[in-house]
Amino acid sequence: MNIAMGVSGGIAAYKAAELARLLMENGHTVEVVLTHAAQEFIRPLTFAALTGRKVITDLFATGGGDEVLSSAIEHIRVAQDNELLLVAPATADLLAKFAHGLANDFLSTLYLAFRGPVVLAPAMNSNMWQHDATRANLATLASRGHTIVEPGVGHLACGMVGAGRLAEPAQIAAVVQALAHPRRDLDGEVVLITAGPTQEPLDPVRFLSNRSSGKMGYALAEAARARGARVILVSGPVELARLVDVETVSVRTAREMRDAVMARVPEATIIIKAAAVADFHLELVPQQKIKKTPARFSLELSPTPDILAEVGAVRGDRLLIGFAAETQDLVREARRKLETKKCDMVVGNLVGGEGLGFESDENEVVLVTRRGDAIPVARASKRAIADRILDESLKLRLALHGVA
Ligand code: CTP
Repeated sequence: MNIAMGVSGGIAAYKAAELARLLMENGHTVEVVLTHAAQEFIRPLTFAALTGRKVITDLFATGGGDEVLSSAIEHIRVAQDNELLLVAPATADLLAKFAHGLANDFLSTLYLAFRGPVVLAPAMNSNMWQHDATRANLATLASRGHTIVEPGVGHLACGMVGAGRLAEPAQIAAVVQALAHPRRDLDGEVVLITAGPTQEPLDPVRFLSNRSSGKMGYALAEAARARGARVILVSGPVELARLVDVETVSVRTAREMRDAVMARVPEATIIIKAAAVADFHLELVPQQKIKKTPARFSLELSPTPDILAEVGAVRGDRLLIGFAAETQDLVREARRKLETKKCDMVVGNLVGGEGLGFESDENEVVLVTRRGDAIPVARASKRAIADRILDESLKLRLALHGVA
């Protein structure tokens, strides 16, 4: 594949040289574009030597006559010649430029002229990474279907420890590989996924809920879509960007989620229940706000419908995958839920610890299957875990029903 690789100006620019080498090793051609700031950190010659090609460093060449004319349209040529645009590292400034469509240097004009898939690997100081402006720019870029290779957590050049360190070159190269050779093993499948928490109102201003972020369910939806499936995502209230090409049904309560799911079961071939559904709700929600009283106060809660168990009763030969979020006895609990809710697989994950589970971008799970396996999946991004869940589900279906 022909890859245009942009490098913007951050300390991590030196890692881009290793990335260029890995991409070449994987058989791609790489045309490097350095921003002005990037050239303060790394010389064009490094990339020219690695890629065997001229490195683009400016929007307008300084020569005269024909050279000026050809360089003025060079970004169009680069946009047409390449099938993927990768930027690593992508600084906060670069993300802002792309998000807002500024076009004042070669890389930003190339971005606007480019029509293929875009991969962005951000790197910056953690405060900049967490700033609302950066979050908003990332949400805009993700909503355009671009792939964001999330930065890792670690020591940063500024002396801070936190999120913002450029993902490892091998990880970025793996993302590019996946885009270069997309698996289409879910072509023709309809995958119904639930994600996020539910909210059960207690009065007009209060509700019962949990810490689910929805990230695991959204990662599954993205992975299934990338592998060719039609995806229906029934989502509780989450703060995640809407996914492109995924039919999203927004719900709030367990009851609404149940109705949305049961309505779509007939058309699904694979059902994955990643949502953290509230187990209890208040049946008669008062119309007015509950007032404070000096006395003790209790509410009587009723159980919500167990959606997974209901689906389990009507699933037929659809593949059914549940989740079990546990604070202890992970495998035993996952196995119990597998039996009682008639699932083919239960994805067990430990919650309540540091850096994993609900709000995290990473997870570590065990896949308990109807065949009796308990497959540990080591800590990885939720997207990588999502692909692994889909891989194991397809293998399981093959083993159980002989259908690939
Ligand atoms: N689930 C569901 N409907 C509910 C509760 C849970 O569909 N009312 C689904 C979840 O989406 C998940 C699985 O059941 O796929 C397990 O959820 P979990 O909360 O771990 O299990 P519970 O059945 O609620 O059991 P417990 O709270 O006792 O651990």
